[in-house]
Amino acid sequence: MKILITGATSGIGKQLALDYLNEGHEVWAVGRNSEALAELAESGLHTARLDLTDRASTLEWFKTLASLDIAVLNAGSCEYIDLPGFDSELFIRVMRTNLESMAISIEGVLPLLRQGQNPLLVLVGSSAAYVPLPRAEAYGASKAAIAYLADTLRVDLYREKIDVSLVCPGFVKTPLTDRNDFPMPARVSVEDASRYIRQGIERRNSEIHFPKRFTYLLKALSLLPKWLWTRLSQRMIDHGK
Ligand SMILES: NC(=O)c1ccc[n+]([C@@H]2O[C@H](COP(=O)([O-])OP(=O)(O)OC[C@H]3O[C@@H](n4cnc5c(N)ncnc54)[C@H](OP(=O)(O)O)[C@@H]3O)[C@@H](O)[C@H]2O)c1
Repeated sequence: MKILITGATSGIGKQLALDYLNEGHEVWAVGRNSEALAELAESGLHTARLDLTDRASTLEWFKTLASLDIAVLNAGSCEYIDLPGFDSELFIRVMRTNLESMAISIEGVLPLLRQGQNPLLVLVGSSAAYVPLPRAEAYGASKAAIAYLADTLRVDLYREKIDVSLVCPGFVKTPLTDRNDFPMPARVSVEDASRYIRQGIERRNSEIHFPKRFTYLLKALSLLPKWLWTRLSQRMIDHGK
């Protein structure tokens, strides 16, 4: 299969790209880090150095490809809001990296998926979007928007037979979470994350979430009345002081 992965220079995307290559697929790896891209190219991946927030150059590059069977839009970043100052620059930066880059990538990959075999569009969101989490005003909002995007595209692309999967990881050990200064329950390795995602893609699951012991707990909490969840979160913050 012809598979494109954005955010393939690090963490989840890198592991996924290498695993798909080892399975014998033709893989395009997209990122900004030149050194990481050079390493990936040596391993046998096609690479592209792109800042996916730059619409013109990104769309120009996508036009150089002929077709894709799977596009995994995984590039993203995580930054937390620390009140009392609401840093709108941070908010805009996170939205640009996680959401705008995804919209630009979708515009680029859809014509290629239309030329592919049994095409699948995969958007990487987060289980952080299941419930409102402290300090995640920017990250959580960007991932909630991605979940909505996946759900609407799944309906609108149905007639064209382009499937859409939303990936909602729990905590995965990557440079992104290595920066976190709080406990991360049920954190899994990138190898496990890649395996869960590839299994979900193979089964064409509309939502791929893992590890289940963590994501089902969050899903259950999301069913609580909002006032109760808010009260519980406020208590957690009070205890953390
Ligand atoms: N790790 C977790 O626990 C976790 C949990 C839930 C969801 N996720 C999501 O999973 C995805 C991957 O996360 P990760 O943990 O693997 O993070 P990571 O190791 O920090 O990797 C992020 C990737 O995104 C790329 N990227 C960021 N901004 C970009 C831009 N403007 N243009 C092109 N590429 C860009 C980076 O490329 P360069 O470094 O080359 O710029 C890098 O390859 C993210 O969307 C994240 O939100 C992760």
